[in-house]
Amino acid sequence: MSETGIFYGVGVGPGDSELLTLKAFRILNAVDVIFHVVGPNSPRSVSGAIVESHDFPAERIPLTFSMLRGGAERDEQVRRNANTVAKALSAGRDCAFATIGDPMVYSTYIYISRELKRIIPELRIDTVPGITSFQAAAAAANFPLVEDKEILRVVPASSSDMPREGAEGCETTVFLKTFKTKNALLDEFADVERELLYATHVGLDDEAFSSDPDEIRSMDDEYLSLLIVRPSSKGLR
Ligand SMILES: C[S@@+](CC[C@H](N)C(=O)[O-])C[C@H]1O[C@@H](n2cnc3c(N)ncnc32)[C@H](O)[C@@H]1O
Repeated sequence: MSETGIFYGVGVGPGDSELLTLKAFRILNAVDVIFHVVGPNSPRSVSGAIVESHDFPAERIPLTFSMLRGGAERDEQVRRNANTVAKALSAGRDCAFATIGDPMVYSTYIYISRELKRIIPELRIDTVPGITSFQAAAAAANFPLVEDKEILRVVPASSSDMPREGAEGCETTVFLKTFKTKNALLDEFADVERELLYATHVGLDDEAFSSDPDEIRSMDDEYLSLLIVRPSSKGLR
């Protein structure tokens, strides 16, 4: 029987194919198989496109995930996809799971890794960090995230029952998954003196940024979107 392959979780950054670390590049160049996520809610696979833009020799296998589904349906997707990865690993193939941004930040990689560990307890898992979407957005817009003693928090804003309380005591809040919730969030901060950065498709050809609430409201809802709210600052500009 062949020795089990190594499972690598590789953060490929949020969109710009140059925002890949040297380590991520080396590992994606060396593995036998690269898995990436495709989903019905995101018509394009950003991780797949980043992988495609480099000339890696590995076989590419897409895994379908619908991240807006929760509970039993999501568990079933995770099991099905983990079984696909487990087969390749058990055949002795080193596998990478390419994930947008960082693998440890709201990534399907976390669920897949847990399930794989259940299927193959002795599995070696190596995680390679990536640049998160909000780091890339802040950098692209010269928008400081936190300075001096300020605090940063990250909130998944995919539903209206997201935790919002405490925003006053927390200098900067990054809202991810703002698909369909951006306007409710803007209402939340309408009366407070805040600086905003709304960003969509960061690092991709059609990336867009706005700090103007009216303009943000008029923009289309996008799955790949985020909103950063912070106290008014001197900025960098
Ligand atoms: C499942 S989470 C993945 C987060 C990712 N692991 C990270 O480190 O940024 C998906 C959310 O990340 C944000 N996101 C990821 N890539 C993005 C991009 N290129 N532009 C804007 N937002 C992005 C969006 O808020 C999206 O709904």
